[in-house]
Amino acid sequence: MKNIVVFTGAGVSAESGLGTFRDADGLWEKYRIEDVCTHDAWLRNPQLCVDFYNARRRETLAAKPNAAHDAIARLQQTFPDTKIITQNIDNLHERAGAHDVIHLHGEITKLRSDINETATVPLDGWEQHYGDRHPDGSLLRPYIVFFGEGVPYFSQACEIAAQADLLLVVGTSLNVYPAASLLQYAPENAPIYFVDPGLPAFGPYTNRITHIRKKATEGVPEVVDMLIQRFQ
Ligand code: APR
Repeated sequence: MKNIVVFTGAGVSAESGLGTFRDADGLWEKYRIEDVCTHDAWLRNPQLCVDFYNARRRETLAAKPNAAHDAIARLQQTFPDTKIITQNIDNLHERAGAHDVIHLHGEITKLRSDINETATVPLDGWEQHYGDRHPDGSLLRPYIVFFGEGVPYFSQACEIAAQADLLLVVGTSLNVYPAASLLQYAPENAPIYFVDPGLPAFGPYTNRITHIRKKATEGVPEVVDMLIQRFQ
């Protein structure tokens, strides 16, 4: 088994205490996307955006990787060609030992130039101070892909998915595009294992998906153990 591709959403970090977006108690039930996660919001009220992502960053730094993050890192250690693509902005995959993780929607531990979407700088600690500037002179903003903005690494993610022998998808409602369309780039004959206690929008992939309707910390270690046993 050469190319396993892991694709994760907020559900993989739910049991680490980080909120998902569209579950009953999700982030978008508490905040309006138009207020904190669009470019207009950033222009209209940058301090509110900075405060929102400072709060997310504090939560992320206080959270710990869970058994699902650990199992995914173990999968990558066992099969070194495993690629990990996430919609999440947290760094829990990396803190569990995974490497070369592609973050489609940005990273909470970095800030970016206001004029160059991939010019990032690391942020130590949880607090961004609005008004600090990037070396290119522009205002620093959270390194988050806001709704309506381009997803810089999506084409790279599609190329990776197109080479997949197998997909392991964890904890995503498949509501947000283009990220959710990643599954369609995987070869027809690549099996898709999907760990999620809910009912994501499987749509055209339904008959290709093996749905493990369990929480990530239970379902992901089971699938990883099965893959290692079968393919090592
Ligand atoms: N284990 C596994 N999956 C879980 C768990 C859990 N413990 N708890 C919830 N889930 C599942 C839900 O059933 C749902 O399918 O996680 C998914 C969360 O869906 P969303 O909240 O829509 O999160 P996600 O799919 O990652 O959202 C995609 O939307 O707002 C944007 O940029 C944001 O990256 C995010 C994108």
